[in-house]
Amino acid sequence: MIGRLNHVAIAVPNLSSAIRLYRETLGAEVSAPLPQPDHGVTVVFIQLPNTKIELLEPLGEASPITKFLERNPDGGIHHICYEVDDIVAARDRLRGEGARVLGDGEPKIGAHGKPVLFLHPKDFNGTLIELEQI
Ligand code: CO
Repeated sequence: MIGRLNHVAIAVPNLSSAIRLYRETLGAEVSAPLPQPDHGVTVVFIQLPNTKIELLEPLGEASPITKFLERNPDGGIHHICYEVDDIVAARDRLRGEGARVLGDGEPKIGAHGKPVLFLHPKDFNGTLIELEQI
């Protein structure tokens, strides 16, 4: 059911130093920061030949990554995103398998303008999984 790895998202405490690290030290192409108030993050995209990396910095008081950064003050891998062809069919199949879908279970429009859902990390080996319909 799942397809390609779409991206790995890394939560960072300081976006400008993380951008510098990826741009100067790792020699990657980093996009301009994009504030996403609906998702409580500012994000940059790093395009690699085979996938993307997203760096996430908290935006606003109720950011969903604030708690994560309290537990991981240096930052860390926050979630990985797999592509699916049909997100509603994927959701229904996962629920049928007993997996928990976060929130109200309705796909939301994600950082790339495509429908996304998140799956409970406790059901997936401690990894927060995002599904994105391509
Ligand atoms: Co993501």
